[in-house]
Amino acid sequence: MTGRIPPPFIDELLNRVDIVDLINSRIPLKKAGKEYQACCPFHDEKTPSFTVSREKQFYHCFGCGAHGTAIGFLMEYERMEFVEAVEELAARQGLNVPREGGNRPTGPDHRPLYDTLEQATLFFQQQLRHHSQAGRAVEYLKKRGLSGEIAATFGIGFAPPGWDNLIQRLGHDEGQLSRLRLSGMLSEKEQQSCYDRFRDRIMFPIRDHRGRTIGFGGRIMGDGKPKYLNSPETPLFHKGRQLYGLYEAQKATRELKRLLVVEGYLDVVALAQFDIHYAVATLGTATTAEHMELLFRTVPEVVFCFDGDQAGRKAGWKALETALPHMRDGREVRFLFLPEGEDPDSMIRKEGNNRFQQRITEASPLSSFLFERLAAEVDMASLAGRARLAELARPLLTQLPKGLLRQMMFNRLGETVGIEQAGMDRGPALPLPQRKQRAPLRAFLGTMPPVRRAVALLITNPQFARAENLPSGWERLNLPGVPLLKELLEILRNQPNLTTASLLERWREREEGKHLGKLAATLLPLPAEGQAQEFHDTLLALARQALEARTEALLEKAAGEGLSAEEKQLLSQLLAQKATR
Ligand code: UTP
Ligand code: MN
Repeated sequence: MTGRIPPPFIDELLNRVDIVDLINSRIPLKKAGKEYQACCPFHDEKTPSFTVSREKQFYHCFGCGAHGTAIGFLMEYERMEFVEAVEELAARQGLNVPREGGNRPTGPDHRPLYDTLEQATLFFQQQLRHHSQAGRAVEYLKKRGLSGEIAATFGIGFAPPGWDNLIQRLGHDEGQLSRLRLSGMLSEKEQQSCYDRFRDRIMFPIRDHRGRTIGFGGRIMGDGKPKYLNSPETPLFHKGRQLYGLYEAQKATRELKRLLVVEGYLDVVALAQFDIHYAVATLGTATTAEHMELLFRTVPEVVFCFDGDQAGRKAGWKALETALPHMRDGREVRFLFLPEGEDPDSMIRKEGNNRFQQRITEASPLSSFLFERLAAEVDMASLAGRARLAELARPLLTQLPKGLLRQMMFNRLGETVGIEQAGMDRGPALPLPQRKQRAPLRAFLGTMPPVRRAVALLITNPQFARAENLPSGWERLNLPGVPLLKELLEILRNQPNLTTASLLERWREREEGKHLGKLAATLLPLPAEGQAQEFHDTLLALARQALEARTEALLEKAAGEGLSAEEKQLLSQLLAQKATR
């Protein structure tokens, strides 16, 4: 129904919004030189390394590497979707968000579906209070130790027995019926004949980050199969991307620091009953990469909780493998294995809040879990066994992003297996981490290949595109990044007043966008003086490199197949230029 938001509108919006005001209204900022600072909202810290630049309309944390524009900030901090963030900013400016070419189908409008699920949620809640058989459901919940208050917090309801309660209540016309079907609330025998999917079950609404119901889990009361029936995948509901209880956790605690990932709906609810309001559950699936990102977008610390049995250990290891590529500095993952036969629900009932929290506090760090588990698989007393450990560990450790944790893990591996293995992390050295003390401009830029250096300087200082006498000729170089540099300059020639933020938004959907953001973040702490000269010099060096390459190619051709008259002329010009340099 809705078309793309036109990029010029995003430019306009970012021109009007001030990222300093935007962030300051959420996290008080202090002025520090030209920039503004605070303790980073995206990781735990005592001294501020979160920096906001008014000039570039860009924020960056030296500690954890988080960075972005005003739109990106709302997406990260308020967990909004891109469109939501744009709409929020526009509303603050009193602007309507325009859409391109009204009739281009860029995605259906899901509002009626949300609406239908909301009505279903309310219906089930009502039935829990008023249905003639609700007594059994209430009894069941009581038996599981849940108070009415907690049931209400999680919106728990009751789907009464019978084939068409929901259909009778909500399916009064074709449109409603088709929405019930599309949102996964109905099952079909054959075409045309459908009935309520959820019958005679306790209903757990699954909510998205804004509290909208997107699906349900329904538990049978007592024994029977399946124990839980879940909504199928629908346009709103994707198991691999959702965490049960996340909305409720965020509502309960203003600033969540930690999330506990458990396996079951009832584990989440029971923990909340015992005042642990930061538990979430995957929906009967293993933890996915999308879950990891969602978790770390919300908190810096994630504790996975599993049964102590074989299956639990296996699931834990799977979660570890999924977590590895997401372990940026500032993020922490730990593992808690419960005694065999217990789940968080049974455990906390048995031992109460304090003892359970104690278990959480003592959960194993990712590094211990990894090394202990691998060490158990080899004979650590023998050289061969330790070499084997290194063999097993290396492919895992190389999945860690560059950073402190990766270094520490490789060091630990080196210590564990013996010194000769210590240099095992053959990846490139860290690009000056934790740059609290400002590195001299030259020394720092010198570590970047010239094309990347030019791109970094330009994205950080879009006004450089307006400089006179920018060296040319480099455009012909066949190097990665050259097309990007050209494109940036072209855009800036047409729109000289774009900020770093506006440029980054243009690349949001593109592969290079992430790199551009990182480059801008990398250069932000460097002194501004001298950057214009560096940019000029870098382009000049590239232009020379292009000349050299052209000369080389012509010389080669001259030695081989020979040159045309024009080429001969060009070559002698090039050689002459070279001589005068
Ligand atoms: P469990 O079998 O551990 O159930 O399944 P539980 O959460 O402890 O529930 P209670 O305490 O017996 O009531 C863990 C999770 O696996 C999914 C559900 O998401 C459940 O919460 N599951 C389990 C299903 O989807 N279907 C099933 O039939 C069973
Ligand atoms: Mn259970």
